[in-house]
Amino acid sequence: MGVDEMWLNSSKIKDILKNEVFYCNFDEEDSVTLRLRSEIVNWLGLKLTTKQELATIKLEIDNKLDKNLEAYQIKEQQIRGTSSKGVLYGFYAYLRRKLIKLPLEETSAPQQALRMINHWDQVDGTVERGYAGESIFFGRFGSNDNTDKGSFEVKDIGTDIFRNDFTRLEMYGRFLASIGINAISLNNVNVRGLGTSLIISPYIEKVSEIAKIFSSFGIKTFLAVNWSAPKIIGKLSSSDPLECEVRLWWSKVISHIYQVIPDFGGFVVKADSEGEPGPYQYGRNHAEGANMLAEAFQAYQGLVIWRTFVYNSQTDWRNRKNDRAKAAYENFMPLDGKFAENVILQIKFGPIDFGVREPLMPLFGALKKTNQLMEFQITAEYLGQQIDLNYSVPQWLSMIHFSNYGQAKDTVRDNSPLPSNSGFVAINNVGMDENWCGNKLAQANFYGFGRMCWDNNLNAEQILDEWLKLTFTEIDAITQKKIFTMLISSNRTYELYNAPLSVGSMMVPHYHYGPAVNGYEYDRWGAYHFADCNGVGVDRTVATGTGYTSLYEPSIAKKFESLEEIADEDLLFFHHVNYNYILHNGKTLIQTIYDQHFEGVSCVKNYIKVWQSVSGEVDEDTYNNVAERLNLQLCNAQNWCDQVNTYFYRMSGIDDNRGRQIYK
Ligand code: GCU
Repeated sequence: MGVDEMWLNSSKIKDILKNEVFYCNFDEEDSVTLRLRSEIVNWLGLKLTTKQELATIKLEIDNKLDKNLEAYQIKEQQIRGTSSKGVLYGFYAYLRRKLIKLPLEETSAPQQALRMINHWDQVDGTVERGYAGESIFFGRFGSNDNTDKGSFEVKDIGTDIFRNDFTRLEMYGRFLASIGINAISLNNVNVRGLGTSLIISPYIEKVSEIAKIFSSFGIKTFLAVNWSAPKIIGKLSSSDPLECEVRLWWSKVISHIYQVIPDFGGFVVKADSEGEPGPYQYGRNHAEGANMLAEAFQAYQGLVIWRTFVYNSQTDWRNRKNDRAKAAYENFMPLDGKFAENVILQIKFGPIDFGVREPLMPLFGALKKTNQLMEFQITAEYLGQQIDLNYSVPQWLSMIHFSNYGQAKDTVRDNSPLPSNSGFVAINNVGMDENWCGNKLAQANFYGFGRMCWDNNLNAEQILDEWLKLTFTEIDAITQKKIFTMLISSNRTYELYNAPLSVGSMMVPHYHYGPAVNGYEYDRWGAYHFADCNGVGVDRTVATGTGYTSLYEPSIAKKFESLEEIADEDLLFFHHVNYNYILHNGKTLIQTIYDQHFEGVSCVKNYIKVWQSVSGEVDEDTYNNVAERLNLQLCNAQNWCDQVNTYFYRMSGIDDNRGRQIYK
């Protein structure tokens, strides 16, 4: 089949535009302009003229167009941008509109300033939480064959760790730019072994080759760093952020990076979390840790992206007042206003860990003096791992539009003192698989994330519709509608057969696919459901529980605190209730659990039928790829249904009122 072009089918575009002649009114030598020219001439094989009168489409820089330097306007066969980057975005928007037959008129500027992708790729070629093959950046033999790799230690410095597949990276840069992504970090936030050395020679020079490609697509490159790098690779006796020699070490490293990569974006840091080192080791707080790096970056306009996914993974299940959901808030809220201007806190959208349903992390809305990025996961770690169908955009949109301390129009941007240092970020789902995402239909999440960052007002249906029309250009409207119906309901379907009513993870530990109802129940990771013979759920109320509800603005807190007001779907995240408790849907909790699980399985069975009916309509590779995954999804859904229902039957002793099969 060859490597998939996702939503940018070059031969189709070429075909539609074959009679057009492009003209560029600017000939800056910046790399984005060169890329734009090369996209027209080399990628699409179209004509670019130097004579204005021969042109049918004109590309123009007009710095008065908008305050936003990334804005573009398409009008009367002209694509104008406030900068070359704006024109590049306008160019892809033009292709998109042309392909899906929208009017060729649009004025647009991105709503989020930073639209970032994180990779969790490791220097041995593996990808943490990756479900689409090996890393597109790293790989021992510069090929896809990493079979006998093992991990690399600091002492292995010099080993060739790069895949060097620049054709692939160029395609990737195109996908990213076409949906407006403007920042990328290349390596896993758990920076271990040889990965620690990416920031120094000889690796930083190789990183610069990748950064050059991204830069030509208007994308800044970042690296994740190990907080203890001064000790690990600098051979210092400490990594204490207040030690002069530590500060000096970082500033030398950073200054060298800028010699090699003049437009380097900055660092992403996971510190004091899940066993990673951090400033707490030295009795320092996160602001002291982040600001030390920020100071070294200041001269270069570099950024420190500091993750708030910080919790003590030694939680004791015996103590019911202990609540992992409060951890990020407790660690970071007292530091609001203490971070330097070029520090941005990267905050997961929910308080636990990318669950299928979590409330919005209460730091959003509460933090007012700190720059923020809202973090999502495109790679579906807890959401079916690109085996199960799961179009997650509806869930992400519900998070960005949830208003805690509601006066801000845009939770993240309006609460960041420097809006240009705020936005959305996601861990991506691509790898060396021919279709990039393992599951062809999981491309919709990648596409959707970029579109959501650019235009927060798009809804999940519009985004999906766009993606389908771009991706499956040849199929008829009926087939398109069938795939649409499957995808748009898929996030909810997954939720139906998963852990019930937002209670939390009931996943197979560490692996995070498939059910293990008590997998984490007595573990140190702080994700418990507390089911007993009377009921289930985590009491996070102020009245009788952990008090987590109080972290929200009073009117939201009141809603979460109250059994009368809380939505059924949020119930077990906030309350421990009896199996006979009557929900707003008029049914008991236990009956709702049974009904949802049976319904989830039946939805998947229906997806299989619908997919069978599109056989012959979509290309064979896509058909087989999705068919195979749907069959695996059915096993997964059935397994969840059987285990969850049996577990709660055994706990409660209450029968399903419709007498369906529960294994007793
Ligand atoms: C999850 C995930 C880890 C990851 C972590 C993070 O816990 O399972 O693999 O390292 O999130 O976001 O840092």
